[in-house]
Amino acid sequence: MGHAPQDERQAAGVEWAFRAAAEGAQRARFERLAERLHAVGALPVITDGARRAAEDEARHAGVCARLAEGLGASAAESPPVHFVTLPTLPAAARVLYEVVSVCCVTESLNAAVLTTTLEVASDRAVRAAVRALLRDEVGHARLGWAHLTREAQRVDVAFLGPLLPAMLAASVREEVFARVAVPPEEGAARDDYGRLTLALRGALVREALTAVVLPGLEGCGVPVEPARRWLDARAPPGA
Ligand SMILES: [Fe+2]
Ligand SMILES: [Fe+2]
Repeated sequence: MGHAPQDERQAAGVEWAFRAAAEGAQRARFERLAERLHAVGALPVITDGARRAAEDEARHAGVCARLAEGLGASAAESPPVHFVTLPTLPAAARVLYEVVSVCCVTESLNAAVLTTTLEVASDRAVRAAVRALLRDEVGHARLGWAHLTREAQRVDVAFLGPLLPAMLAASVREEVFARVAVPPEEGAARDDYGRLTLALRGALVREALTAVVLPGLEGCGVPVEPARRWLDARAPPGA
């Protein structure tokens, strides 16, 4: 059932081409967030952080595209950027919702996937690219936690609780599963290039949500029971 190394290499290239497009999407999200954070009077350190994050993502897109090319894949077409938002919310609440989606959820999941990729990948070029991304993504997640923590001191953030299932569904689908290139029937949960199967990614996402994201939200005063129920319904323990 093994695949030729050349196939693995090519498939890894395709995955990194998808990642390049995803990094480009995060860039667009952070650019929009920086403007909106500024408009609702967020702390300059947060607004500036979002601007720098957009620059990071532009750099990441280049790192991923070069790696994909080096692995023999051509650039993936960038789909239109999907913004996870809720237009019916008042401006400041809507920006908080978007920050939680982009930073606290998506970047935390990104960091978890990259951390595991670094653990399993042996290919030098892949490891160098993952290292180039990982520290920044952790910083991008922290930016969200900083904004949420500050907002929680000024306003009631409990309104986010019932909104979490839809936010998680959209964020997880967009950022984690949309670009998965390893079919679960391929057997090995990993290869030299750090590709993870859908099953392993699913388990990772579940673990990161359960151990990092939901406790972080709860610590800021966001009720997470609806999110826990959503998670349990989608990925029962031991499944
Ligand atoms: Fe990134
Ligand atoms: Fe990021």
